[in-house]
Amino acid sequence: MASFRYTSPVKCDVDVNTSMVKDKTAIVTGGTFSCDFRLQGPRLIYSGANGLGEAYVRALLAAGATVVIADRDVERGRRLEEEFKKAKFVNCDTSNWDDQVRLFRDAVSFSQSGKIHFVVANAGIHRKDEVFSYVGDGNEPKKPDLTTIDVNLIGTLYTSKLASHYFIKQNGQKPSPSQEDTCLILIGSGAAFLDCPRAPQYCATKWAMRGIMHSLRGTTFYYRSRVNIISPWYVKTNILSEEAFAHVKRVGVDFAEASDAAQCLLRILNDSTVNGRSFFVSGRKWSSRGYMDLDIEDYPEDSLIESIQKDQVKSAPVEMGLFI
Ligand SMILES: NC(=O)c1ccc[n+]([C@@H]2O[C@H](COP(=O)([O-])OP(=O)(O)OC[C@H]3O[C@@H](n4cnc5c(N)ncnc54)[C@H](O)[C@@H]3O)[C@@H](O)[C@H]2O)c1
Repeated sequence: MASFRYTSPVKCDVDVNTSMVKDKTAIVTGGTFSCDFRLQGPRLIYSGANGLGEAYVRALLAAGATVVIADRDVERGRRLEEEFKKAKFVNCDTSNWDDQVRLFRDAVSFSQSGKIHFVVANAGIHRKDEVFSYVGDGNEPKKPDLTTIDVNLIGTLYTSKLASHYFIKQNGQKPSPSQEDTCLILIGSGAAFLDCPRAPQYCATKWAMRGIMHSLRGTTFYYRSRVNIISPWYVKTNILSEEAFAHVKRVGVDFAEASDAAQCLLRILNDSTVNGRSFFVSGRKWSSRGYMDLDIEDYPEDSLIESIQKDQVKSAPVEMGLFI
């Protein structure tokens, strides 16, 4: 695998081949079905909102992968495990380090090869933001609830740490032909690159995904790994209330689809040249397949920002390796 370099945007209007996912093992956090389902005759009937995690899990299983699903929703997780032979549910709060250590250990045990190839750090929440909200005249400000940071940022940092730990353990610390492709997927949002009023915590956590990716993308090739971001536009799930989504619809905003996010995941995982890129799950208004490479992560050639970036890596060049 070549070292990182800036590329032109990844073509997304192409058919997705899934051969690189078959027989691989993936972890998806926040991956239970966030919908209700019941048996009608021999068929399962789904109702309610489907989470994005579910779409990633279903697409990976359909492509022949083994999937370990980490979530706090035990009831749905267990039902999911029963439905698919190649799925395992682990009760895990991603903001808890010990839970995630157990998750990765369980994934290694469940994996037929004993390896973890892909990790999708999908678990995330959106709450009313106490950093933003005003307590009212005459009241003292209270320490804000920062649970969004705990789950979306700290939890994802734990996932990133453990993913790279296992990738390095499996592949070694120096590029070699025997290494197998591995990939970490971080989940951004429109809030990872747009102005979203009244949500400083959520925006901080989603912009942070790009910070993690920018920091890792130059050195992942040592252990034949990659790191990319999927940033969904509005997708009807349980992350916001029904009223909030109804409002989005009322003001004329088109939705994106969870199934397109899943295809975007397969597009990335099946192309080992894709590293350090951000994909926007845009809906069909902006792209024919419902997702696109936003081309926002490179520094244009001969620009001022590119020359500043070059000076930045002089003090910590990629050539110094993984451990300095
Ligand atoms: N739906 C959207 O419009 C949208 C847009 C942009 C980004 N996203 C991002 O996509 C990801 C998935 O969101 P979704 O829309 O499917 O939401 P969702 O609420 O439908 O599903 C989230 C899942 O994560 C799980 N989860 C939450 N906290 C957890 C924790 N601490 N540990 C383990 N599991 C936990 C929940 O149980 C649930 O199964 C999130 O990172 C979210 O920020 C969603």
